[in-house]
Amino acid sequence: MIRNEMRWRKSVQEIAPYVPGKSIEEVKEELKLEAVHRLASNENPLGPSLKAQEAIQNAMTSSHLYPDASAKKLRQRLATLYHVHPDEVLTGNGADNVISLVISAYVNEGDEVLYCSPTFPAYRSATLLMGGKPVELPLTVDWTFDLEALKQNITERTKLIFICNPNNPTGTIVDSESLEQFIKAVPKHVTVVLDEAYIEYVHKENYKTGIDFFKDGYPIITIRTFSKFYSLAGLRVGYAIASEERLQPILRLREPFACNRIAIEAAMATLDDTDFTKRHFDMNEAEKHSLKEELTKLGFTVYPSSTNFLFVHVKRDAKVIFDALLQKGIIIRPCKPWGYDEYVRISIGTKEQNDLLIDTLKTM
Ligand SMILES: Cc1ncc(COP(=O)(O)O)c(C=O)c1O
Repeated sequence: MIRNEMRWRKSVQEIAPYVPGKSIEEVKEELKLEAVHRLASNENPLGPSLKAQEAIQNAMTSSHLYPDASAKKLRQRLATLYHVHPDEVLTGNGADNVISLVISAYVNEGDEVLYCSPTFPAYRSATLLMGGKPVELPLTVDWTFDLEALKQNITERTKLIFICNPNNPTGTIVDSESLEQFIKAVPKHVTVVLDEAYIEYVHKENYKTGIDFFKDGYPIITIRTFSKFYSLAGLRVGYAIASEERLQPILRLREPFACNRIAIEAAMATLDDTDFTKRHFDMNEAEKHSLKEELTKLGFTVYPSSTNFLFVHVKRDAKVIFDALLQKGIIIRPCKPWGYDEYVRISIGTKEQNDLLIDTLKTM
């Protein structure tokens, strides 16, 4: 219970503080370890692409200058990549920032925001902050967003529906035919927001993404990030793609220089580095497959993943496993904050990191 002598805004009191994964530096210092591997935050284990590193070096010399407020170059580059108009692209300081902006721009007090749970926690906190009502429905038994339940729970007060696709922390995706049926059935007063932070890892043939649906004329907002597949989590670049009209209110709210100069250059260079992105995709697929096999051999249940992480049922208190791995310098993500004490989320590392994880688990 928060003492409210300082008169915090009421909606802020209801928000639980975000608990980030432990940082590598923190664990090194606490446990006096030389090497620490973080398999907890779904970062790209290859590090930034060499082209991005070069672009970062070059951009540093201009860091006394404000960035282009509209990030025009990056918007144009993304527009060319996805065959949309640059005015249909809005950039922000990470997808997190874009999610908050969308909710701040659309949700009035009492408006309902629908999504399934467990999922990315920002939908809930940003909705509460605006005085909106988060309506959380359970995922299906196979841990995917329950589109039917979402449809049945739409009311006059529903403003936004978030679909985290693929979903964090479960790694699952909805099938695109069901998604299309769902989007078609949603009434006009509701905007569907597709959070596609991990979409670059999806490799199903003919799989339709939010951008495809948008180009087909459906009224949706798609949110993406450079933090995962493009390996720039530390620089904070996220973006939304939607009609210019739907982006207008978000633009009015966004801080003027949301995307910094270095981040813009690094993002553009990474998009150009297709050797890097292909190498990462292939490595992630191969490592995901073998890590899943090894974890299954250890008696854990590992769910199908369309991402760069695995959702794992360890069938005992996950804290014991988390603590034991931490002592050896391996950080994973327990799913306790989502209410799942026996589950963990493990990011796919390099072969060396994954081998180390498995070898350490075998000793337990
Ligand atoms: C589903 C989902 N959406 C959004 C984000 C936020 O990404 P960013 O680093 O761009 O803020 C994350 C980060 O973990 C995520 O998992």
